Amino acid sequence: MANLIEYQKVRKVYNSGPDEVVALEEVSFNVGSGEFITVVGRSGCGKTTLLKLTAGLLAATAGSVHVAGAAVRGPLTNVGIVFQSPVLLPWRKTIDNVLLQIEARKLEVEDYRKKALELLELTGLRGFEDKYPNELSGGMQQRVSISRALIHDPPLLLMDEPFGALDAITRDEMNLELLRIWSEAKKTVLFITHSIPEAVFLGDRVIVMTPRPGKIAEMIQIDLPRPRTTAHRDDPKFISYVKSIRQRLGVL
Ligand SMILES: Nc1ncnc2c1ncn2[C@@H]1O[C@H](COP(=O)(O)OP(=O)(O)O)[C@@H](O)[C@H]1O
Ligand SMILES: [Mg+2]
Repeated sequence: MANLIEYQKVRKVYNSGPDEVVALEEVSFNVGSGEFITVVGRSGCGKTTLLKLTAGLLAATAGSVHVAGAAVRGPLTNVGIVFQSPVLLPWRKTIDNVLLQIEARKLEVEDYRKKALELLELTGLRGFEDKYPNELSGGMQQRVSISRALIHDPPLLLMDEPFGALDAITRDEMNLELLRIWSEAKKTVLFITHSIPEAVFLGDRVIVMTPRPGKIAEMIQIDLPRPRTTAHRDDPKFISYVKSIRQRLGVL
């Protein structure tokens, strides 16, 4: 499996000077093409920083990030990003929120309408294309946001705690949905979360991060078969992965 992302000794310092914050230190790992990687850690351990460095929204203080073989030096156009909040425009229908990405890229909207409808089918929103955000549940709004991130067909999907604002039941459902979308759309996913069970349930590998400075404490290969199902949450292996990450993070 070729690597899609390569992090080499990445360091990120905010506010150099007396109040400097070392957000990331010595971060080195690779993400294989098609892999589903989850990054888990407490709030403030540098997860969002890592995602922004990958997307080229921030520059590393030292070290390098390569995506598809090229050093990241500015905002990447061939990635899809999903944030914790779905950031939909309230006056736009579902389909038009998905197509926003196409407008922003100054591409021909009509060329993408069919693709947008296919994505709404893929994300389980068929029949909701003409609804406005306030007519959709939180989970559905996040599905719109995922559709929007996929409309330009990027090979890489970056997700920053996308289900953090959802209730626990919807979150578990969205985990299953995301895995289905991932297996059908064949993307590489870098998924950031502060939920240990979510990281284990989704990932091929889990990157465990500890704060101040944000470092990789452990990388764990998740040896659970795919497709993952709710039953895997009761699997002794699943439980032991969760337990060992909790211990690593010092969760009381
Ligand atoms: N723009 C910024 N300026 C100064 N410090 C920042 C900035 N962004 C993040 N930080 C600090 O860097 C550390 C990592 O932040 P972040 O990457 O957002 O962590 P996480 O997403 O894991 O909660 C935190 O201590 C945070 O306060
Ligand atoms: Mg964050």
